[in-house]
Amino acid sequence: MTMHATPFDATSTTPPSDLLDAARRVQRNAYVPYSDFPVGAALRSADGTIYVGANIENASFGLSRCAEQSAVQAMASAGGRTITEIVVVSDASEPASPCGACRQILYEFGKNAKLWLVNASGEIRSTTVQAMLPGPFELDAAEAAT
Ligand code: THU
Repeated sequence: MTMHATPFDATSTTPPSDLLDAARRVQRNAYVPYSDFPVGAALRSADGTIYVGANIENASFGLSRCAEQSAVQAMASAGGRTITEIVVVSDASEPASPCGACRQILYEFGKNAKLWLVNASGEIRSTTVQAMLPGPFELDAAEAAT
């Protein structure tokens, strides 16, 4: 069996209940006729506002968007630029991990953000965006923009 270093805390911390509630609520709005795999994401921006997103699929499968991306788009579109905390919920047997693309998207606005992954039965994994994305792609321009 291949062993991987785990990015998760050895002992999971508890997600903020307001973010968990918001993520569970928006998960119900996921549009997932193709995968039947609803995901909800809720994040808190630096000013305390909560933004949410669900995964939205498309008949042209490659156009489907993850819940984390939807939440980041909502925050950035409203003018938010810094994520402090994120909760992602799914119904998977193990709390679902953000895909590689989402890790890069979260990193853009949340390199220091705390991240909790939760499934329907309430299993929790806690970590940080940074721990989930070693060696992120960075442009000098992104530094200048923040
Ligand atoms: N998905 C998310 O929304 N977030 C993740 O972290 C992993 C995957 C979505 C994409 C697609 O709609 C469905 O889950 C199955 O891949």
